[in-house]
Amino acid sequence: MKAKLQIMMLRRVLGLATLPTLAIVLYICFILFSIRVKLPLLSSSNTTDLVTKPPRLRAQFSLLIGILTRADKYNHRHFLRLLYGIQSSPQADIDVKFVFCNLTKPEQRVLVALEIMRFNDIIILNCYENMNSGKTYMYFSSLPRILPHQYDYVMKADDDVFLRLAPLALSLQPLPRLDLYYGFVIPCASMNPFVNYMSGMGFLLSWDIVEWISSSKILANDTFGPEDKLVGKWLNMGNKAKNRFSNKPAMYDYPGTNGRCSHDLIPDTVAVHRLKRWDQWVHVLNFFNVTKELVHSNLYSVSFNG
Ligand SMILES: *[C@@H]1O[C@H](CO)[C@@H](O)[C@H](O)[C@H]1NC(C)=O
Ligand SMILES: *[C@@H]1O[C@H](CO)[C@@H](O)[C@H](O)[C@H]1NC(C)=O
Ligand SMILES: *[C@@H]1O[C@H](CO)[C@@H](O)[C@H](O)[C@H]1NC(C)=O
Ligand SMILES: *[C@@H]1O[C@H](CO)[C@@H](O)[C@H](O)[C@H]1NC(C)=O
Repeated sequence: MKAKLQIMMLRRVLGLATLPTLAIVLYICFILFSIRVKLPLLSSSNTTDLVTKPPRLRAQFSLLIGILTRADKYNHRHFLRLLYGIQSSPQADIDVKFVFCNLTKPEQRVLVALEIMRFNDIIILNCYENMNSGKTYMYFSSLPRILPHQYDYVMKADDDVFLRLAPLALSLQPLPRLDLYYGFVIPCASMNPFVNYMSGMGFLLSWDIVEWISSSKILANDTFGPEDKLVGKWLNMGNKAKNRFSNKPAMYDYPGTNGRCSHDLIPDTVAVHRLKRWDQWVHVLNFFNVTKELVHSNLYSVSFNG
C-alpha cells in the first residue's frame, strides 16, 4: 500500500517535471543530502541504519487531535481509544488526546491516573468542567506551555464525532501549514469558509494560530460564549487565518439529526458528527467497514462479519 503510493507519487512528479527542472531538483537534493547525511556519518560510526533500512516515506506533518470530553466518561473514552488506536495515516503523525478540566472526585484520581499510566493520552486543564465558558480557550492557550513539542496542526474535536484519520490527513496534505483554519463551516448551507466559523464538531488550527491564541491578552478576556463561534470571532478580530478550508461534503452531521448540516453517509467521509446512540455508531462503523479487516481465528466461536 505504502510502496504503491510512493510509486504513484514518483510517477506524478516525473510526469510533471520537465528536464531542466528535474536537473535543478536533483542538484538541490544533492546539496541537501550532502549537508544532512555527511555530518552524522562523521560523528557516528553506526551506519547500519542508512545501509540496511529501505528509504521510508516520512510523515509530512504532525497533528494533535484533542477530544474535549469529561473525566467521568470512562466507557466512552475506552471506545474512542479503540477507534483511533486502529487508525493511522501515511501522511501524518497523529496524536489523539482526551481533554478535560480539573478532577473533582476521589475515584477520578485513581482511575484517571491508571489511564494515564497505561495510555498517556490525557490532558487535564486548569478549569471547571464546562462547554461554553472557556474550555476551548483554555485548551488552545495552554498547549504551547504544556506540550513537550509543537505540532503543525492542532484540532479540537467533540466526543460525539467519528473522524477518519487517513482521509483527514489526505485532505490536509495540500493545504498551507501556516495561518490555516479548517473544518465544517457554519451556517450549514454556507460554502464560503469565511462565512462564518467552523463547527465545534472538529476544527483545526495551524500551530502559529495556537501560539497567537496563547499569547493574546485580548482573547484571555473573551472566552465566554459558544466555543466554536468564539474561535471564528477571535480570528476575524485578529485578522488571522487567511487560509480557510471548509471540508464539505466530507464532514457532516449524522443523517437526519441536524437539518442541512446532515446528509447521508458517503464513502469520502472525514467526519460524522452527532453520534449519540450505539445504533448510530454501529451504522457508521459498519458503513465504513471498520471491523472488516478482522481475520477469523479459532479463539472466537462467532463470525464477526457474517
Ligand atoms: C546501531 O544501530 C542499530 C539500529 O538502530 C542498533 O541496533 C545497534 O545497537 C547500533 N549499534 C551501535 C554500535 O550503536
Ligand atoms: C484545579 O486543581 C488544582 C489542584 O488540584 C487547584 O490548584 C486548581 O485551583 C484547580 N483549578 C480549578 C479551576 O478548579
Ligand atoms: C478585561 O476586561 C475587564 C473587565 O471588562 C477590563 O477591566 C480589563 O481592562 C480587560 N483587560 C484587557 C487586557 O482587555
Ligand atoms: C465496504 O465494503 C463493501 C463490501 O466489500 C464495499 O462494497 C463498500 O464500498 C465498502 N464501503 C466503504 C465506505 O469503503
